[in-house]
Amino acid sequence: MRFSLLALPVISLVAQAAVIVPGATWTDTSGNVIQAHGGGFLKVGSTFYWFGEDKAANSALFSAVSCYTSTDMTTWARQNNALTPISGTMISTSNIVERPKVIFNKVNSEYVMWFHSDTSNYGAAQVGVATAKTPCGPYTYKGSFSPLGAESRDMSIFQDDDAAQTAYLLYASDNNQNFKISRLDANYYNVTAQVNVLTASTLEAPGMLKRNGVYYLFASHTSGWDPNPNRWFTASSISATFSAQEDLAPEPVRTYFSQNAFDMALGTNAVYMGDRWRPDLLGSSRYIWLPMSWASGSPQLVWADVWTLNIAAGTYTVATGTAYEAENGVVSGSATIPADPSFSGGKAVGFLGNGGSVTITVQGIGAAQWVSLYYANGDSTWRNTTVSVNGGASVLVDQPDTGGSHVILSVPVKLTLKSGSNTITFGAGQTTFAADLDKIIVYTAS
Ligand SMILES: *[C@@H]1O[C@H](CO)[C@@H](O)[C@H](O)[C@H]1NC(C)=O
Ligand SMILES: *[C@@H]1O[C@H](CO)[C@@H](O)[C@H](O)[C@H]1NC(C)=O
Repeated sequence: MRFSLLALPVISLVAQAAVIVPGATWTDTSGNVIQAHGGGFLKVGSTFYWFGEDKAANSALFSAVSCYTSTDMTTWARQNNALTPISGTMISTSNIVERPKVIFNKVNSEYVMWFHSDTSNYGAAQVGVATAKTPCGPYTYKGSFSPLGAESRDMSIFQDDDAAQTAYLLYASDNNQNFKISRLDANYYNVTAQVNVLTASTLEAPGMLKRNGVYYLFASHTSGWDPNPNRWFTASSISATFSAQEDLAPEPVRTYFSQNAFDMALGTNAVYMGDRWRPDLLGSSRYIWLPMSWASGSPQLVWADVWTLNIAAGTYTVATGTAYEAENGVVSGSATIPADPSFSGGKAVGFLGNGGSVTITVQGIGAAQWVSLYYANGDSTWRNTTVSVNGGASVLVDQPDTGGSHVILSVPVKLTLKSGSNTITFGAGQTTFAADLDKIIVYTAS
């Protein structure tokens, strides 16, 4: 008797773990781009809820606070909108609603959403509050106000683990100069007292988590939509003096071109959720989620092109791939090979595009695979590169400025590779210049 493997139905014995790819276009279970910028997260039972700004209209003005659900933090299904505009109020379509954060209030058994509520020129600088009986709502808008009479722009909400579940508003106040923390009332409808202030700290985009009884505050500085080195601070209590600011990632990478939105505990580590804003095309702003590790004793972002979360175990795994140096490829036309110690292997390929290209031979597994392009773009504008597999049609990959011609970031692209050898050509057929290409890493995950 002979077994015919071909006659057997093809069954995948190992479920493909969903991967997190920072900077890729993330889609929901319906295939639509996830619109949940400046996000907030809430866990109810085994379900995670992701609230955020829907910027599909490429405008900063309010269109909706979206609500997505997931059980693995990776596969997200869009639900009904949690909050929608109401004309004639501070949440009309001509106003600003940003950074929605939701917590559960046990006194009233309801979900309470706080958000940055503003006029289109950010002149009102208020917070808004809305409530619902279910996590996605829809929420009933209660109103917008100036907490304790002061300005509030970028903000977050922190809920403590004490018996009363005391919650706090974290907010950039006084024209973004002073960063304040104020206690909420028992209903979570208002603030009752300021408990801390980081004077002249110029912080934005806050998040907070508690680890081994220590309060960790995360925040960016103020540079508009542009990235800057985000910082961390600690204090032994919410009202104690916070430690001096420390970098969350090496300064030159400007938090891997992102701004903090939320920080979620994961076992003894955490997950950093940031936004890679694209002001000229806000709906194409990307999500930069990274492991935050305490391996060094203090929180540091771990760059990961491709990674997985194990929620049950409270762990993360960074995928490994195969690296190919760009300078080892076939360099054609006007492309050059600049040398600098910051490049992997000491070299990169420059002047790609506009008559210059490089072709790199890589090994594939016969599937759609993530490929990360490590590049340097020292110009103050975004560049892009054409990518063609085995001479096929090109796709265009955005290359945000890296903040320096020797500062290297990576961007992902999903390519379908044959089993065995493949050629990947960069920069061919484009009339603009691409960024300098340092290396590429080919992953087997998809
Ligand atoms: C919030 O509390 C302050 C007093 O601290 C009060 O003046 C204000 O009216 C309250 N706001 C709301 C929206 O209840
Ligand atoms: C690609 O980048 C160039 C600048 O180098 C820009 O002019 C062009 O609009 C970009 N194309 C796309 C499709 O983003």
